[in-house]
Amino acid sequence: MREMTAANLRSAFGGESMAHLRYKVWAAKAESDGFPNVARLFRAIARAEEAHAAGHFKVMCQVGGGFPVTAGGGFGLAGTGENLAGAIEGENFEVREMYPCFLEVARAQSEKGAVQSMSWAVAAEAIHADMYAQAKAAVDAGRDMELGTVQICTRCGHTFEADEAPDKCPVCSAKKSFYVSFE
Ligand SMILES: [Fe+2]
Ligand SMILES: [Fe+2]
Repeated sequence: MREMTAANLRSAFGGESMAHLRYKVWAAKAESDGFPNVARLFRAIARAEEAHAAGHFKVMCQVGGGFPVTAGGGFGLAGTGENLAGAIEGENFEVREMYPCFLEVARAQSEKGAVQSMSWAVAAEAIHADMYAQAKAAVDAGRDMELGTVQICTRCGHTFEADEAPDKCPVCSAKKSFYVSFE
């Protein structure tokens, strides 16, 4: 794998790994703030970020070794409204800046695996930003969000609200059995 794409993938792996754990911490905070649906949204999206991190890691399977990794990631544990603002900012950064730039490099370097794993990630991050915005509007109004069952594709991180998972993931074509639901 070309070095610049590998460096970008390592950074994306770091960012997704941190997002995965940060959302779990913020889920526990949402639970204790009295917003169980927001907590469930954080847990579901944390699972999607895990899928993104794992996908990037697998694409780099031939680039072993130890590397210092620089990855953007929000810090701070505040009230659920502020945590949601941090989540929205992070998702928007990935959608508007990070992945579009990383994808340009991966395409220029003909790194098909990287293009695939990062395309899958960016498709989900746009959905995450919208769902977190809905959560923030509710929390800012002093109530929990309305939220049905959240379905997560464990292969690509595709995220959506529905009673049932689809027979085939619309993003990565994974079978229904790849989905986990958060209800
Ligand atoms: Fe996300
Ligand atoms: Fe998928």
